[in-house]
Amino acid sequence: MGRNAEATAADRAHVFHSWSAQDLVSPLPVAGGRGAVFWDEEGNEYLDFASQLVNLNLGHQHPRMVEAICAQAQRLCTIAPTFANDARSDAAALIAGHAPAGLDTVFFTNGGTEAVEHAIRMAKVHTGRLKVLSAYRSYHGATAAAIAATGEPRRWANEPTLPGSVHFFGPYLYRSAFGSADEAEECARALAHLEAVIALEGPGTIAAVILETVVGTNGVLVPPDGYLAGLRELCDRHGILWIADEVMVGFGRLGTWFGVDHWDARPDLITFAKGVNSGYVPLGGVLISEEVAASFATTPYPGGLTYSGHPLACAAAVESIRIFTDEDICGRAADLGEDVIRPRLEEMAAAHPSVGEVRGLGCFFAIELVRSTATREMLVPYGASGPEAAPMAEVMAACRARGVWPFAHFNRLHVAPPLVIGEDELRRGLDAIDEALEVADAHTHDGPVAHR
Ligand SMILES: Cc1ncc(COP(=O)(O)O)c(C=O)c1O
Repeated sequence: MGRNAEATAADRAHVFHSWSAQDLVSPLPVAGGRGAVFWDEEGNEYLDFASQLVNLNLGHQHPRMVEAICAQAQRLCTIAPTFANDARSDAAALIAGHAPAGLDTVFFTNGGTEAVEHAIRMAKVHTGRLKVLSAYRSYHGATAAAIAATGEPRRWANEPTLPGSVHFFGPYLYRSAFGSADEAEECARALAHLEAVIALEGPGTIAAVILETVVGTNGVLVPPDGYLAGLRELCDRHGILWIADEVMVGFGRLGTWFGVDHWDARPDLITFAKGVNSGYVPLGGVLISEEVAASFATTPYPGGLTYSGHPLACAAAVESIRIFTDEDICGRAADLGEDVIRPRLEEMAAAHPSVGEVRGLGCFFAIELVRSTATREMLVPYGASGPEAAPMAEVMAACRARGVWPFAHFNRLHVAPPLVIGEDELRRGLDAIDEALEVADAHTHDGPVAHR
């Protein structure tokens, strides 16, 4: 048995995997990584074009991160959340310091799901209302309130979920739920739709609207200008809180500290995780507005976690934020996106009959694959798995065979490399994806074309 096979067998013996039929998974054993590259037990290298699960913004094994975690481990590995701790206070101050004005307090969690769970709880207690509105084509996490808010198939097997969970259509021009012709029309119609949903659900019953600032796993959907401002206005009109779920897009992914920075719109609560410390130690949290924080000034907040503000995770966040500043990680992500990723993906869109649309922001892009650019029929159906998803599995295999590991979801490939990736590495990975797309072309109604 080769070393990869041995390591995979050891995994399969006792490890239970997320979201999977256990007998059908065969995980690649990863032996190590550095920067934007990781390698398996047999030394095969892959460019990490997914930043693991879009969390590894600083790449693998950033020396300053490893050092900061070791230093904190030497000093104090853990301390209960009831105490004050400098790693925790420093992390909270730095996070609040980069957040939109007025979001000044941080509740720390162990990851994104818990952040969403607590943001929703805060909104419910603050408003005294029950309902939570969220978008179809969204992912907010895997536990009770977070999976209830989720607007994609991972919710289905968890139903029935919490009462008061209502879904609406967000803006998505390429597959507009409103038949819109352009971004401005999509924005206006999506807001009119949300206004109608609020009216029909009863504005006085709604605690919060939770929305991914740029929808992540479900399509890299960038909201049209004006949508978030319109959402803010609707929420203000009805005393509803806006929770911006920035678990995937916060901390540099979009070329800004927070995604909302692109639109100058201020949410009441922001959830974050992943990029806050690149997942070197699990951490998430909720940024809380002064108004919501005031609700818990003299009335206890009904929630907590043994590991809220864990010193190892917070020390990693402190160092990560310092690295972001020292290395201008946000500026770098913005430049790589506009100078390298967007133009190269647009070339691919022009050349491949399987590419329906490319879209994104910062270092976060989607390639939407179709059977026909005329009908926009998806390369594989919504929610496809098993044999139905075979064309996408083939495309992914073609990427991996060329040493690139992108993220695939339904009919899309996502390009989300570490923000520290070298320009040469990025170009090499995009060239590999360009080649791999010929596999998708073969599944179009038009078939492959000679485009070189
Ligand atoms: C937007 C969003 N919210 C919440 C979550 C859940 O975060 P976690 O997996 O850290 O619990 C995710 C995970 O991908 C996410 O993308």
